[in-house]
Amino acid sequence: MKKNIVILGTQWGDEGKGKIVDCLTSDGSYVVRYQGGHNAGHTLVVNEKKIILHLVPSGLLHNNVTGIIANGVVVSPLELIKEIKMLEENNVFTRKRLFISNSAPLILQYHIEMDIAREKRLGINLLGTTGRGIGPAYEDKIARRALRVGDLKNEKVLSSRLEKIVEYYNHQLVSFYKHKSIDYKIILKDLLPIIDIIHDMIQDTTYILHNAIKDNKKIIFEGAQGTFLDIDHGSYPYVTSSNSTIGGVMTGTGIGPKNLDYIIGVTKAYSTRVGYGPFPTELFDDIDKHFFKKGHEFGSTTGRKRRTGWLDAVSLCRAVKINSLSSLCITKLDVLDGLKEIKICTSYQNSQTLNPTSFLENNDWDSIKPVYETYPGWTKKTLGINKIKDLPYEARNYINRIEEITQVPIDIISTGPDRSDIILVRDLFYMK
Ligand code: IMP
Repeated sequence: MKKNIVILGTQWGDEGKGKIVDCLTSDGSYVVRYQGGHNAGHTLVVNEKKIILHLVPSGLLHNNVTGIIANGVVVSPLELIKEIKMLEENNVFTRKRLFISNSAPLILQYHIEMDIAREKRLGINLLGTTGRGIGPAYEDKIARRALRVGDLKNEKVLSSRLEKIVEYYNHQLVSFYKHKSIDYKIILKDLLPIIDIIHDMIQDTTYILHNAIKDNKKIIFEGAQGTFLDIDHGSYPYVTSSNSTIGGVMTGTGIGPKNLDYIIGVTKAYSTRVGYGPFPTELFDDIDKHFFKKGHEFGSTTGRKRRTGWLDAVSLCRAVKINSLSSLCITKLDVLDGLKEIKICTSYQNSQTLNPTSFLENNDWDSIKPVYETYPGWTKKTLGINKIKDLPYEARNYINRIEEITQVPIDIISTGPDRSDIILVRDLFYMK
C-alpha cells in the first residue's frame, strides 16, 4: 500500500499537477504544499466550474481532507485569506482543516515591490518572474531576517520587526531602484484582521505530519513549479527561488525520505514554459499556435502566453533521475488530437559536443538543437477517454515510446480538463 505520495512537475511548471493531486486525494488524507508560494497556479475544473488555487493545496477541494502549508512555502497572508474566502463562495470550507507552519516565511508588500523594481531595472534582461515577491521572500529566509508566520501571533514584536525591515527595504527601493516607498503601518493595518482569522491555523506542521504518519494516514505532497525551475537543478538564473525537485519535500516539511512511498512526475504530452530562459524544443510555427489555442496555454497566475514546444525526453529522463520518480503521469494528451505528426526530442546536438547530456551542460543554450523522433498523429478524439484500450493506436504508441525512453511506467493519463477526464492505467492504491 502506497501511503505517502509526492506529485511534482518534471518540466517548467504548469504540468497539470493540481488536477492529479485532486484526483489522488481521498477523504481523510492530508495534502501538503512544501515549497513555492502564490506564484503557483493550479487550475481545477469541478462540475464545469474553473477554480484556480495559488497557495491553498488543491486537494482541499475534497471535504474531510486536511491541508498543510508547510515550512518550505513562502506565505502571503493576503493571498491566503483571498483564497479561503473564494473557496467559501464555492461552498468549500477550510478554516478548521487547513494548518500553516509557524516557521514558513511571510511574503509582504515590500517583497512584491522589490520583485517588481528589480525586474524593471533588469530591462530586456528580466527573468520574467510572476511578480509575487517570491525571490525576495526566500532571500530574507536565507539571510535570516524573514518575518515568519509564527511572528503574526505577537503583535508587539511583529510591529517593531516590521518597522525595521521596512526601513531596510525602503532604503533600497527608494535610493537604488527609484521605486515608491512602503509604509509599515499600512502593512500592519492590513495584517491585523487576517491574524484574527488564521490565528488557530498557525501550528507546528512538522509535528502534525509526524502524527499523521504514526496514525497511518495518507499524505499527498503537492509540488509547485517544475524540475527545471528548481533553484539548484533548473535553468539558472531563469528559475524560481525554491527546490521544486524532490529534496524540497524533506526540507520543506520535516519528513524524512523513508516516509515517502511513491513519487509521481507529472509531464504534459508536449512542453510549455512561461517567463524567459532556455527551452530547447520551443516552436514558433503553426504547431505552437495549435498548442496555445487547444491547450489554452496562458499562465493561470500571470495570464501571460506560455511558450510551447515538443516533448523534451532528454530533459524528462534527467527529471526522472533527479527526483527518483516511481512513475509518470501524462497530462493534456487530448491537445495532440488532430496533429498530422508528433515529435519527441530524444537527443541534442550543438557545435561543441555532439551529444550533450543536458541543455544545462553549458550556458551556450542557443546553440543546442533538438534531435527528434517523428511519429504519426491521430485524428480520433482522445478528449474524455477513460480507458487506455479506447485510445487511438497512434496515441498508445506515443505513450509506450515515452515509457520506453524514460524507463518508468506511466500510471495516469489526463485526457481533458475535467476531473473525470482521466485514464488510470494502473489500479493505483487509493484512487477514487
Ligand atoms: P518567480 O517564481 O515568480 O520568482 O518566477 C521565476 C520563474 O519561474 C519565472 O520564469 C516564472 O514564470 C516561473 N514560474 C514561477 N511559478 C511558476 C508556475 O507555477 N508555473 C510556471 N512557471 C512558474
